[in-house]
Amino acid sequence: MNILVIGAGGREHAIIKKLKENKSIENLYCAPGNGGISKDATCVNIGACDIEKMVDFCKNNKIDFAVVAPDDPLVAGMVDALEDIGVQCFGPNKNAAILEGSKVFSKDLMKKYNIPTAKYEVFYNAEEAIKYIEKENTYPTVIKADGLALGKGVIIAENFEDAKEAVNSIMNDKMFGESGNQIVIEEFLTGPEVSVLSFCDSHTIVPMVSAMDHKRALDGDKGLNTGGMGTVAPNPHYTEAVAKECMEKIFIPTMEAMNKEGRPFKGVIFFGLMITPNGPKVIEYNCRFGDPETQVVLPLLKTDLFEIFKAVRNENLKDIDIEFEKDEYAVCVVEASGGYPSSYPKGIAIEGLDENGNSEKAIVYHAGTIFEDGTFKTNGGRVLGLTQKGKTLQEAIDKAYNATTSIKFENMHYRKDIGQRALNAK
Ligand code: AMP
Ligand code: GLY
Repeated sequence: MNILVIGAGGREHAIIKKLKENKSIENLYCAPGNGGISKDATCVNIGACDIEKMVDFCKNNKIDFAVVAPDDPLVAGMVDALEDIGVQCFGPNKNAAILEGSKVFSKDLMKKYNIPTAKYEVFYNAEEAIKYIEKENTYPTVIKADGLALGKGVIIAENFEDAKEAVNSIMNDKMFGESGNQIVIEEFLTGPEVSVLSFCDSHTIVPMVSAMDHKRALDGDKGLNTGGMGTVAPNPHYTEAVAKECMEKIFIPTMEAMNKEGRPFKGVIFFGLMITPNGPKVIEYNCRFGDPETQVVLPLLKTDLFEIFKAVRNENLKDIDIEFEKDEYAVCVVEASGGYPSSYPKGIAIEGLDENGNSEKAIVYHAGTIFEDGTFKTNGGRVLGLTQKGKTLQEAIDKAYNATTSIKFENMHYRKDIGQRALNAK
């Protein structure tokens, strides 16, 4: 089998390392990949959203199966284009990826099918949105651009002035481009957040082990929002009772709602949940694996990942048992470039890795590296994800942080408190 993974970050590296456990895979390609990924797969210099070039590459290299990992190629229809030329794909079609691609679509879907979420209104022009905020006069209020915005499309405004500025910059100044043609204004919810990734073949939905992200740049959940500075799995807030309620009120209803809308979903549905005093509610849907959730979820997966991917593609997920390690924890600490998520330098040499970009100290997922002149160098905001497993959460935390002392680079920034919120939850 010839397999292609599309994407370039830590999530894609985690998928590739897991796929490598399957011996039926002869050639593993990644487009575009990164320095670390190039040691585990053959990297191909094609942008993740370049549908035309990807189609040509698949034809010329007899690709049998493609895994489309990031949101933007999914929303742009990469799966449709590759399936059209006979490449089997893991990931939703364009008409199902809209679950993440449009917040207006997902909010309206939840309302129509009674799936618990924050109350909201949709606006098509700034003036009416601002009038509404003034009339409601409740803060904080949450303002969301409709489309993809590199994870930055959500603004939590503490007062009228900030809310007005957010609406104007999204709708009039188009800070997120066309993604801001429509906005959602919604109720501010409180409670712990849980990420649940699930495999869905449109008939069966199987949640993976739950995870907790740490989105802010600095310790104590301070600083700017990032793509994610670290994760732990499982998430202690996701108890068996909560899991049962989510399955009944959120997961199955979402899968069925997509079927009823004529948009059957095959791939990963990522449920961003908040466990509010009134029960679990959906904060957002993603149509893909999360980053860096994948870096703690897949190391705990015991079942062959490629078998799962094929079962989802062929709609026979019900025929396989998906198992995760029991009584085992995983922690991922992200090492970022100093300055991230604002501007940061690139090209700094990384210490502590062997010639394949690995280390005995942790599973090393490369997010933003380049391999140049025989060394790994930084090449992005989030550079590495160091994952460790343990019999207790504390053990996994200690082992992951122990790895940061030898795997390092100049001006490296990482949070010192990954997992503390989870420890305190107990
Ligand atoms: P997103 O970019 O959609 O992942 O949202 C970023 C973050 O904004 C979420 O992880 C939540 O912490 C927060 N958020 C989004 N919607 C709400 C809401 N309705 N109430 C409170 N916080 C929210
Ligand atoms: N970690 C959140 C995301 O992947 O969107």
